[in-house]
Amino acid sequence: MAKYIGILTAGGDSPGLNAAIRGVGKAAIGLGMEVIGFRDGFRGLVENRYIRLNKENLSGILTVGGTILGTSRDKPHKMPIGDQLVDMTGAIVANYEQHQLDALVILGGGGTQKNAYRLVKQGLNIVTLPKTIDNDVVMTDSTFGFDTALLIATEAIDRLHSTAHSHHRIIVVEIMGHNSGWLALGSGLAGGADVVLIPEIPYDVEIVAEAIRSRSRAGRNFSIVAVAEGSMSCDEVALIRKAEEAVDSANSGKKREKTRQNLAVLREQHIGNTLRLSQELEQRTGLESRLTILGHLQRGGTPSPYDRLLATRLGTAAAHYVSQGVFGVMIAARGEAAVPVPLEEVAGKRKTVPLDHPWIQTARDLGVSLGDTGSK
Ligand code: F6P
Repeated sequence: MAKYIGILTAGGDSPGLNAAIRGVGKAAIGLGMEVIGFRDGFRGLVENRYIRLNKENLSGILTVGGTILGTSRDKPHKMPIGDQLVDMTGAIVANYEQHQLDALVILGGGGTQKNAYRLVKQGLNIVTLPKTIDNDVVMTDSTFGFDTALLIATEAIDRLHSTAHSHHRIIVVEIMGHNSGWLALGSGLAGGADVVLIPEIPYDVEIVAEAIRSRSRAGRNFSIVAVAEGSMSCDEVALIRKAEEAVDSANSGKKREKTRQNLAVLREQHIGNTLRLSQELEQRTGLESRLTILGHLQRGGTPSPYDRLLATRLGTAAAHYVSQGVFGVMIAARGEAAVPVPLEEVAGKRKTVPLDHPWIQTARDLGVSLGDTGSK
């Protein structure tokens, strides 16, 4: 029976993290365990910075945004130390052993699941929970944080409607999601956006412009364009693919370095260039266009009831799985159940929006342009 457990939160913060910490902590204490929380993700574990979690400091945090433990994007095997990236896995294992931990509960998104699996391979007893506003972790119905961000993005689209309508403008609203379009598509549908662009579907800017012009011809001379930050036009995708191929076929170290640099510059210039999209739509339609970037507003603040409940039930379930000695797993939401899935099946994978997903069909049925030829 596990006696000592650690918790940490890693990656971008997400509403519901504190609800999950509270769920894990209270249930674990109820099962007779002692709990410590490491500060600032894997960095706190490396530097042995931690707090003891007890009934007092686990109280009053359910509704609080962010994470009381702090977080960072530092990876165990590539931790910035001075101006170097250093493999600090050894320090993590040493601190885990020094605290005589029976298990470590790690709360994070896709990247964190991968890092957690690396620690499983080092022999640590790991249990993870899926959090991210992007909703792109595989093998789970959803991730906590997504519902709250959906609410915030939808409310933003609602508010942008009245100002777009009053000024007869296009408003391009950039929504988080570097690699997946769940948030943009979900909030675009819920908020009634006229165009939704997601990374999974490269867009043709002329098709987008024509969708807007056709609304104008029908007397609706304003449009809301909801864009996931990682969306790209077909031309941009082709450009980046070509640069990726150049990296793959580079036959010398020097050439590889040069092609890599070129690829990085192209990615920087083209992925999620929503300002350029807004300007191009203005030119092509003759309507004024404005860009709104929702940014970190989508990650801040109190979690929705759905996220509180999801984080709490996954958190308490994690404590039970630890007490049963079930390790090397992520606790996934499956309907009302919280089931352990091997981290091996989660690590390194990403749940993007499938092209045959019902939300895509719903958008098409409504006449929402997705910027591709499949759009009316
Ligand atoms: O948490 C995931 C995410 O919200 C992505 O959608 C976004 O691209 C990224 O985090 C940005 O995070 P940060 O600015 O904290 O690096």
